[in-house]
Amino acid sequence: MVAKAEQLYEGKAKILYACDQADKLVAHFKDDATAFNAKKKGTIINKGVFNNKISAVILKMLEDKGVKTHFVEVLSDRECLVKKVDIIPVEVVVRNVVAGSMAKKLGLEEGIVLKRPIVEFFYKSDPLDDPQINEDTAIAMDWATPEECVFLKEAALRVNEILLEFFDSLGIRLVDYKLEFGRSSDGILLADEITPDGCRLWDKATGEKLDKDRFRRDLGNVEEAYQKIFELVSNA
Ligand code: TMP
Ligand code: ASP
Repeated sequence: MVAKAEQLYEGKAKILYACDQADKLVAHFKDDATAFNAKKKGTIINKGVFNNKISAVILKMLEDKGVKTHFVEVLSDRECLVKKVDIIPVEVVVRNVVAGSMAKKLGLEEGIVLKRPIVEFFYKSDPLDDPQINEDTAIAMDWATPEECVFLKEAALRVNEILLEFFDSLGIRLVDYKLEFGRSSDGILLADEITPDGCRLWDKATGEKLDKDRFRRDLGNVEEAYQKIFELVSNA
């Protein structure tokens, strides 16, 4: 039994609580949905339940394949136990297919398959809308060391190999996604969550979007999309 203690932090999609294990936290997944750095707000019914389970299955699968993550165990429908980390303020985006900000910035059609994956860095800052940065900025600003930047890129590419195969086996095209990492006494751990909130997931057969773009772009059937990914991942 884990005894939950005081709330330490409330983010856009999760609340973090202290607990009776000093080196761990309880993460509570909310139904709150935001897009465009909280300029758009809403609720996706049961998103917290779906995302808690989706992230747990994926982080455990990555851990089994040798990627060190913060995930410890699922505690309930909406809560899991994670190792406490200091989040590195560099969001790592991996792209396999052109979509979203890349399509917009370069005037490209969504759906072009990239010749090789792209790893991009963004500075984690809501007030600034997470601006894209490069490795030099991260190092010069002391957001990450040179060694950490190398680690982040290599870890992201390794995670990508595993996730591409995993989602492909479920009939899903892994278009792009965002990862966060944190420093801990066990080294750098993959942290945060891997869910349809921070991934673009397209049905391989129909091209249907099964991720937060349904909410961002008012495409309807948002809950159904999260539920479909939940069911596929739960049965994997
Ligand atoms: P983008 O196309 O908006 O740059 O996003 C690429 C992917 O990363 C997309 O799946 C959404 C995810 N992402 C987040 O979840 N949060 C973020 O702050 C950023 C920059 C990207
Ligand atoms: N994750 C960011 C937000 O919640 C950006 C996005 O998903 O559009 O606002």
